[in-house]
Amino acid sequence: MTIIEPTYTYIDNKFHTNRAVAFSTTIEAIDSIENLKTKYPDADIIKGEENSILYPGFINTHVHLEFSANKTTLQYGDFMSWLDSVIANRDRLIQECDNKVMLKSCNDMLESGVTTFGAISSFGKDLETCAKTPQKVIFFNEIIGSNMAYVDALYSDFLNRLDESKKMIDSGITPAIAIHSPYSVHPVVLKRAINIAKDEKLPLSAHLLESPAEREWLESGEGEFLSFFQKYFNTSTPVTTISEFIKSFDDIDTHFTHMVQATNKELEYIAQKGHSIAHCPRSNRLLGCGRLEINKLIELDIPFSVATDGLSSNSSLNIFDELRGALMLHYSTSLKELSNLLIKNITSTPAKILRVDSGEIKESKSADLVLINLPDRPNSLDDIALQTILHTKKVDRVFIDGKEI
Ligand code: BEZ
Ligand code: FE2
Repeated sequence: MTIIEPTYTYIDNKFHTNRAVAFSTTIEAIDSIENLKTKYPDADIIKGEENSILYPGFINTHVHLEFSANKTTLQYGDFMSWLDSVIANRDRLIQECDNKVMLKSCNDMLESGVTTFGAISSFGKDLETCAKTPQKVIFFNEIIGSNMAYVDALYSDFLNRLDESKKMIDSGITPAIAIHSPYSVHPVVLKRAINIAKDEKLPLSAHLLESPAEREWLESGEGEFLSFFQKYFNTSTPVTTISEFIKSFDDIDTHFTHMVQATNKELEYIAQKGHSIAHCPRSNRLLGCGRLEINKLIELDIPFSVATDGLSSNSSLNIFDELRGALMLHYSTSLKELSNLLIKNITSTPAKILRVDSGEIKESKSADLVLINLPDRPNSLDDIALQTILHTKKVDRVFIDGKEI
């Protein structure tokens, strides 16, 4: 048994003083340090520094490790220029992205306190890394392919990757399914993949309504995607509509990534069906996709996470860099309310979305814990979320299932 005594403890989405936490692999008790010492006289005691805060381990629901080799190669500013640059450089970027590069990505997340992440895996190249990394991984095997001529081969490759990930459950992997997007997945395989997720109760995710070009293509078959599909796929009509695609997920709660270009009506539908959203603010800004109206999500009570996306559309996988990005992008949302919401959206909210047994400091939850030191005393408990976001580059200590990493 270990007892950790921080200055502040994040419980029930609020900050508290005089709350120490006793844990083994799970959280055993939360009480004053005196009571815990009496209850567990033989426990090891960790006393936090003067302005320390104990958080549950952070959760990054959406990252693409297989694109970790990108630094300055890809074109930013506009979605279609970016997509063209991905296609032009994909082979080299994938080849350069070996286990060492991907483990560094995992470690960068870990240093920022991320103890669980959702890996969107396009090729299965990241499976070994995800099995090796100390973090828990929701491994989203991605299905792609809009052209009927290739979908069977791509689908069978997807099934093989899914099977491989199922063999890694003992290494901290949770098998899951990701749909690449409405424009890139044929409805025939879309339905098959969704049915697997339903039958096997696997977490399900999909990129949706990321760019203005995507919306225009799905609505009218026009715009920048038209020449893209003519050039690369010799087709000139979209395989689905926005409403047909969204309706395919009616009976299974799904984690939709981006949704920047969604209308109010579409967001209302998402709310009604119990779906959630992965919000990637820096990726959206860098790819010219716009700004997600988070005030609408708050109004509609749509759960959303804050996630980094991959290094193909970001400059770091540090979750606090992402929160600082969100804080600046959403300039009209109340600063303190937004700070508190952002912390919630990398802890308890994504834990519920991904159905993992962490993300909260609560008895019987996994002892995934992060200790952070503020450089000075915060003015009030109400300031701690904001000051944590502003001042944290790296966390001080990390525990996963009670084991210090
Ligand atoms: C496709 O397979 O249809 C596709 C892949 C990437 C981008 C767009 C479409
Ligand atoms: Fe993504």
